[in-house]
Amino acid sequence: MSLSLSSYPTRFAILTLLSAATVFFFYKSHRHLSKRLKSLNPISQNPIPKTPRGKIFFISQTGTSKTPAKSLHSLLNLNGFEFDLVDPKEYEPEDLHKESFVVIVASTWEDGKTPSNAGFFVDWLTESADDFRVGSLLLSKCKFAIFGVGSGSYGETFNAVGRDFSKKLKKLGGVEVLEVCEGDVDEGNLDEVFDEAVSEGDDDEEYDDEFEENDEESGIVDLEDIAGKGPSRKKGVNDKLINGKSNGGTGYKIIGSHSGVKLCRWTKSQLRGHGGCYKHSFYCIESHRCMEATPNLACANKCVFCWRHHTNPVGKSWTWKMDDPIEIVNTAIDLHTKMIKQMKGVPGVKAERLSEGLSPRHCALSLVGEPIMYPEINSLVDELHKNQISTSLVTNAQFPDKIKLLKSITQLYVSVDAGTKDSLKAIDRPLFGDFWERFLEFSEALAKMSNGEYEVACEHVHSCCVLLAEVDKFKIDGQWFTWID
Ligand SMILES: Cc1cc2nc3c(=O)[nH]c(=O)nc-3n(C[C@H](O)[C@H](O)[C@H](O)COP(=O)(O)O)c2cc1C
Repeated sequence: MSLSLSSYPTRFAILTLLSAATVFFFYKSHRHLSKRLKSLNPISQNPIPKTPRGKIFFISQTGTSKTPAKSLHSLLNLNGFEFDLVDPKEYEPEDLHKESFVVIVASTWEDGKTPSNAGFFVDWLTESADDFRVGSLLLSKCKFAIFGVGSGSYGETFNAVGRDFSKKLKKLGGVEVLEVCEGDVDEGNLDEVFDEAVSEGDDDEEYDDEFEENDEESGIVDLEDIAGKGPSRKKGVNDKLINGKSNGGTGYKIIGSHSGVKLCRWTKSQLRGHGGCYKHSFYCIESHRCMEATPNLACANKCVFCWRHHTNPVGKSWTWKMDDPIEIVNTAIDLHTKMIKQMKGVPGVKAERLSEGLSPRHCALSLVGEPIMYPEINSLVDELHKNQISTSLVTNAQFPDKIKLLKSITQLYVSVDAGTKDSLKAIDRPLFGDFWERFLEFSEALAKMSNGEYEVACEHVHSCCVLLAEVDKFKIDGQWFTWID
């Protein structure tokens, strides 16, 4: 890897290191860092190009990390780099893609926890990094550098927060200009370490090898690779999830033994006055009034793009102990409203939307798994309707018998991930050997269920979906209507 002497990130990296060394002890004895410092001479560089203001975030529980962040801020500004010192509590993460340069000084707490002033920031980053729809180019214009503030005495979770930030920012396309610097508060003398860093490292080959190793460890995983790394069915993933002990770090709440509910990122977005999901374009459904849930965490496909990265259980038939549908609905609403309440105080959340969000009007049965497999799906849907909640059920068309039994729901969303047998197999990786026949039978059953003539009423390019609606019912005087008020 080579660094351009005149590049802004390189100049910045040097300044950052110098300042960090003068205000805090960042313990890191890696050679390539010193290699960079030795080989670059800031004095000989070109004038600083005009760039937008950078951001220095301090992620801190008890204020320790704020001190180096503040000093860095002063030093950079004194040297003509325009940076803002930002408490992530006051920051809108949706704006991250507009940033050109971001420095994060982050401490780590018990079991690798993030300090509370960055709770929302981290949640947003985690969800975005895990959501294949967000994309790996979101932060491609954003350079970043991370300083971890932690203690080596905590072993594996030493600076876990800083490292995690680095992985997620990279996954979203952010460009890391400096490897994560890991400060150890219990180690002592900062000058000593700084001297050590600048005097080491003459071996190019060693540097290159080390860099390659670290690159491999970066945590950026190709979707195809993820598939390979997914736990096998035999290993009892079902037990882990179905027995309700773990949500596998997904952010969703487990209900009983086979259901789940989660605050969708669009719900959060609309609570904060931003946009909603495709259902807003299609049916005027407001995402802040929508609950995302599933009565079945298990699925009969292992799609390559699955946002759950194949840690959810799989199965071809219902084999679990069955929970009561009314109880599932009540618990889902209860947990959903609790999660909405937790959004109070998050930057940008509108009071009016928060209070509306406390009474969900819609339920997307789409979180994860195949909801139609749940034997009591009709009773569950009825119960939601009784609560004045519209239903949107997502299915991957592998259960034709179930669709024939499905009673009235508000909207049905069929995932058609490919148009041929071979491509469907490659993309959805179905468990059923007769997956194609099932898919065709499902489609035929669906066609029979609908008597009238259907047309494309709306399309949503970003979500790769179209809305088919019955002409007689919903097209009035050439204009499409919806039955959601
Ligand atoms: C209860 C407790 C748990 C901690 N856990 C970790 C940890 O898991 N990993 C780590 O690197 N540092 C850990 N630390 C060290 C803190 O990161 C360190 O004290 C730091 O200076 C706190 O910075 P802050 O005041 O900016 O939050 C822990 C400290 C305490 C008091």
